[in-house]
Amino acid sequence: MERSEIKNYLDKNKDRFLSELLDLLRIPSVSADPNCAADVNRTAEAVKQRLIEAGADKVEISKTKGHPVVYGEKIIDPSKPTVIVYGHYDVQPPDPLDLWHSPPFEPVIKKTELHPEGAIFARGSCDDKGQMYMHVKAFEIMMKTNTLPCNVKFMIEGEEEVGSANLGTWIVENKARLKGDVILISDTSMIANDIPSIDIGLRGLTYMEVEVVGPNRDLHSGVYGGAVANPINVLCKMIASCHDENNHITIPGFYDAVTELNAEERKELAKAPFSLDAYKKDLNVAEDQGEKGYTSIERTGIRPTLDVNGIWGGYTGEGAKTVLPSKAYAKISMRLVPNQSSEKICELFTKYFESIAPKSVKVKVSHHHGGEPVVVSMDSPAFKAASNAMEETFGKKPIPTRGGGSIPIVALFKDKLGLDSILFGFGLDTDALHSPNEHYGLVNYYKGIETIPLFYRNYVALNK
Ligand code: BES
Ligand code: MN
Ligand code: MN
Repeated sequence: MERSEIKNYLDKNKDRFLSELLDLLRIPSVSADPNCAADVNRTAEAVKQRLIEAGADKVEISKTKGHPVVYGEKIIDPSKPTVIVYGHYDVQPPDPLDLWHSPPFEPVIKKTELHPEGAIFARGSCDDKGQMYMHVKAFEIMMKTNTLPCNVKFMIEGEEEVGSANLGTWIVENKARLKGDVILISDTSMIANDIPSIDIGLRGLTYMEVEVVGPNRDLHSGVYGGAVANPINVLCKMIASCHDENNHITIPGFYDAVTELNAEERKELAKAPFSLDAYKKDLNVAEDQGEKGYTSIERTGIRPTLDVNGIWGGYTGEGAKTVLPSKAYAKISMRLVPNQSSEKICELFTKYFESIAPKSVKVKVSHHHGGEPVVVSMDSPAFKAASNAMEETFGKKPIPTRGGGSIPIVALFKDKLGLDSILFGFGLDTDALHSPNEHYGLVNYYKGIETIPLFYRNYVALNK
């Protein structure tokens, strides 16, 4: 396969490849929002059509208990390897809407400091429609230039952003048609556009919700305040007790299973370029913070965390209202690292919150979703194929990194299908995923489309 052939086809079709992605981005496929259910289905339909046009066979929208999975395949020769592409067509809610500079589902292209050649601003542009669609276009290129060197199967889901609760069942039910050799995923980040990297880890997740109930009704905070427990005060105290002065998590047993890295491994991690000044400047914070004894890269890559995602209760409207509320709530998530178990952490968290609650309130702890952490071996032919492909298009060997985010299904691919995944991400952490003004660099989009066929070529060559 000639790289120039791919490049030629890409250059000729650049504008169409972009406008097709913009069309996908116009559909608000917010999996968390029941009001978007029809749009989520429309997006699945669009992905299906695009896979058919690109040349896939047996393309179908496969039902689950939740949003459907789009499946398609091209089997050129059963004796050849099979790459299974995973991605997601659902997106995060766009809120808070007033912080977007342009409407989240009306994509526009604007230049930024990190994307001087322009970036697509829209919800899902990077996470994950833009990155997922690179695979559809790379597949089209290989089909149209007769360079697809092996079999490929697509599995594009619609529930990643809500925890992939139904995909685990789906992959087990579809085990027979998911026979393959490796899972290829573009849903992570690289260090910078001139510093390619490949994630060799993902953190796990345990997502909890806590309800604290005090008196049986909202009270006048003057008449009762001081004599009755305020559930918001209590909840804040409970949350504050989760970290000590070194930002170490205090939940008993929380670190018991954590795999510590040895000095050698930590030295390897520290090789990735990182500027704390640029980091702070980008986020406009005067100081960073985190677990004592670890670098920023380690704090997000190899250490577990606990964060409050939302907290509410009492009066939050305009002006002031004197009230001692009856109830308080918080959504709390914990990122997990290798060897921690999402279920075990759920248990420990629940036990801790129940044990520290004063008798003056009732506490209800419930579980939302979770997923297990992942490490990717660098010794496999697939990893080498990915690394060499990036080296070819970026002119630099990609640096192995440990991503801080989670993709819950990846651990299940290993568990249920026995398949390793390659985290072939082309976004940047600064692309505002899940935030207002999410964007994806045009350079990143096209570079991904150009690099993916090289992965296939390398993978097949290394498998011989
Ligand atoms: N694509 C992200 C995960 C990600 C982003 C990994 C950047 C590494 C670098 C994915 O869509 C995501 O947001 N996952 C969720 C988990 C889910 C259960 C909601 C997450 O990490 O919060
Ligand atoms: Mn994603
Ligand atoms: Mn996401």
